[in-house]
Amino acid sequence: MDNNFDLIVIGGGPGGYVCAIRAAQLGLKTACVESRGTLGGTCLNVGCIPSKSLLNLSENFHKAKKDFDKQGIEISNIKLNIAKMMSNKNKSVQVLTKGVEFLFKKNKVTYLKGKGVLLSKNDVVVYNNNTKKNYKSKNIVIATGSGVASLPGIEIDEKNVISSTGALSLAEVPKKLVIIGAGYIGLEMGSVWSRLGSDVTVIEYLDHITPGMDLEISREFQKILTKQGIKFRLNSKVNSLNNKKNSVIINFTDNKNSEEETIEADKVLVSVGRKPYTEGLNLSKVGIKKDDKGRIDVNKKLQTSIDNIYAIGDVINGPMLAHKAEEEGIAVAEILAGQAGHVNYDVIPGVIYTSPEVASVGKTEEQLKSNNKDYKVGKFPFLANSRAKVNNETDGFVKILADSATDKVLGVHIIGAHCGNMIAEMALAMEFGASAEDIARTCHAHPTHTEAIKEAALAVDKRPIHF
Ligand code: NAI
Repeated sequence: MDNNFDLIVIGGGPGGYVCAIRAAQLGLKTACVESRGTLGGTCLNVGCIPSKSLLNLSENFHKAKKDFDKQGIEISNIKLNIAKMMSNKNKSVQVLTKGVEFLFKKNKVTYLKGKGVLLSKNDVVVYNNNTKKNYKSKNIVIATGSGVASLPGIEIDEKNVISSTGALSLAEVPKKLVIIGAGYIGLEMGSVWSRLGSDVTVIEYLDHITPGMDLEISREFQKILTKQGIKFRLNSKVNSLNNKKNSVIINFTDNKNSEEETIEADKVLVSVGRKPYTEGLNLSKVGIKKDDKGRIDVNKKLQTSIDNIYAIGDVINGPMLAHKAEEEGIAVAEILAGQAGHVNYDVIPGVIYTSPEVASVGKTEEQLKSNNKDYKVGKFPFLANSRAKVNNETDGFVKILADSATDKVLGVHIIGAHCGNMIAEMALAMEFGASAEDIARTCHAHPTHTEAIKEAALAVDKRPIHF
């Protein structure tokens, strides 16, 4: 095999594999190095995809158990077969990771199995078991992603003290599950295990859940999750864990009165964030600089301090989201092919796949206030949406924030069933610089949940029809 490439991408996650495919489409001779043994990175293997599988399956179980009989569907003897549920999830992951391998073949991307390490600005060595092969490339993209972060002194053994990876493959439903951190992972995995029967308590350092989310939505979200049975200890800092054989004692402090408390659980999920994965890449030897948070420093063109080496995804600044990494991967491939690759960081949607879902794009009300921006708010509850009503999905609302002077949409925040899909319409509207009036004048099919978006846009101008 010829060992010279136009582009070597290190990391085969959503950032890396998408970058490699786009570069190959644009005629660059491209290779992608991946050490995991399967493509798709954290997202496909131990993140977005398996968690969405379990979220979907556990929601079906929960609905069958709690809601169906109220709706005239009487099934007796509903039982959970956790092994079958896990194997269902594993199959979905396998099909999708294999699918990426097929896409590599189809697009003529060379798949280099092993750990990629930089030797110089044009040289990459790939270690696989005991073999070592050297490759040359005009350009290199680092897309190594992120790994689980923990707290000082807390060791994740993936038995009693688990990360998201462990939480995705428990063999039994824990009686008591304590979750440290009320972020995306904590709340999604908390929902899964609570629906399957765990008594779930979430301990969060801040005085609200989901940091960075529009506060009004965050408060509503917490109310709904509490109604579903998840307990919250906010304003509480976890200090240490005592990992005994069959349980774990969690020691935490109430931030308000500095009092120490303990709580016991069968399992503890540590979901306090993720850290960029840069170990063993030889970055400093090659001259690649990192920022104060250990992320690779890049300029607007996603170029590192070495001009032919780029970095994308979780390993650089910005939200740790698969779709953000994908956009960056495409932008770099297009820049390398002489096109004007670009990422619009103002329009990156975020979705939490709980029930109901939570989705947002653009600025929060708190951000607009701190930027001294004059804005108008339009809100519409799903309680007044006919489709939500007939489906018994009335929790939540749509909130649109628009510029007071120009009516341009600045942010959209939704909590409600299916809003993870609905937010795409808002991202598109914002990409085109839409005003609230533009959305209000767009015909939305009836009866759909999306009519709540149209109504919220009408509410920006204080003229909703159904509320
Ligand atoms: P996160 O950053 O979203 O939340 C971590 C939480 O832990 C914060 O609320 C923080 O205040 C809290 N915390 C930190 N130290 C603490 C302590 N000592 N005691 C109590 N609480 C403490 O991190 P998370 O949930 O682990 O997610 C990691 C990344 O993965 C995020 O960037 C997220 O965007 C991404 N992700 C995205 C998903 C999606 O798009 N649906 C799903 C899962 C993860």
